[in-house]
Amino acid sequence: MIYGHGGNIHELAGRLGCNLEDIIDMSSNINPYGPPPGLLDHLKDRLSSIAALPQTDGADIVNAFSRQYEIDPSRVLAGNGTTQLIYTIPRALESQNVLICGPTYSDYADACIMNKVKFDYFMADESDKFIPDFEKFKKEIPGHDTVFICNPNNPTGTLTDRDTIINICQSFPNTVFVIDESYLPFVSNDGAKTVAGADVEIENLIVLNSMSKIFRIPGLRIGFAIVSKSLVPRMKQYSLPWSVNSLAQAAVLYLMKNKAMVLQFITSSNKSIDENKAAFLKKMASLKGIRFFDSATVFILAKIENDELMAEGVCTQLADEKILIRNCTNFSGLGGRFIRISLKLPEINDMLSDRLSNIFK
Ligand SMILES: Cc1ncc(COP(=O)(O)O)c(C=O)c1O
Repeated sequence: MIYGHGGNIHELAGRLGCNLEDIIDMSSNINPYGPPPGLLDHLKDRLSSIAALPQTDGADIVNAFSRQYEIDPSRVLAGNGTTQLIYTIPRALESQNVLICGPTYSDYADACIMNKVKFDYFMADESDKFIPDFEKFKKEIPGHDTVFICNPNNPTGTLTDRDTIINICQSFPNTVFVIDESYLPFVSNDGAKTVAGADVEIENLIVLNSMSKIFRIPGLRIGFAIVSKSLVPRMKQYSLPWSVNSLAQAAVLYLMKNKAMVLQFITSSNKSIDENKAAFLKKMASLKGIRFFDSATVFILAKIENDELMAEGVCTQLADEKILIRNCTNFSGLGGRFIRISLKLPEINDMLSDRLSNIFK
């Protein structure tokens, strides 16, 4: 749905009467080192392409993406961000009962609401650092025809290993598993391997891949779904013509063609993000009244444990100083004490750590 996301710099700029550029947006989970080298200039050279319709089904970008990931192109769908694909899934699959592994990104539930589909949450426990107990989770699956798992999970930052996910999918062949890997490219070790890889044939799987986050191009709106063969006709029935615009298609072709540059960009971004994260958490370690959770990705969940403060107040205080972080109050299963911080360049992270040190002194 339209509301309930981070990154609302437009609203804050309106409230404070400042420019969008004056706002430090640490609520939106995107690679602070993006976009990749050369991409913006490449798009500038292609601005005139908006004078014609883009390819209706994005066949060229589907082929380029499929070659890169070594996947049969007939199993790949392009969308206007993974958002379009998320909202299509319950309708296309004719889901009746959906299970969502939470606390997580609210659009899976919103997609069910929009399509009038019943859904349940399985909530990971805070006492387990929000790492889902998959044995308990498996007990909840029977009776559900569709399951959403976000990996790494937004907003908790937890990463589930590939074998665990494959095992769950294979244990319930009559349930379709939607694995949202939007943040997987931020995982720097072997954990970054997608479950959609060519070495496993799973007939009940849809994997989502977003270009928005790792390449820092959320305004272009590009996402892909890698869909098991038997599910392709159902998903294609709901594909919209021209859902990926001309510039977005040009961006995908550029990114897929410049493979070595992109690999180097992702590797160096992740190295810096990991170092910045360690430095930020080190500074935060001595603060009282705020606890940070481990994260496999670019954002960090934190709990406010000071009786005088709630997420709303902390976020408002920072927003008044033009720093936007994510108030997690509206994530089902979290409540009013959680915030999520998306790390940026070191000087900005330092600015936030100074502000937080002031609040939690
Ligand atoms: C987990 C997750 N999936 C999907 C999306 C949607 O991304 P996009 O539509 O830009 O691909 C978001 C956006 O914040 C997200 O956090």
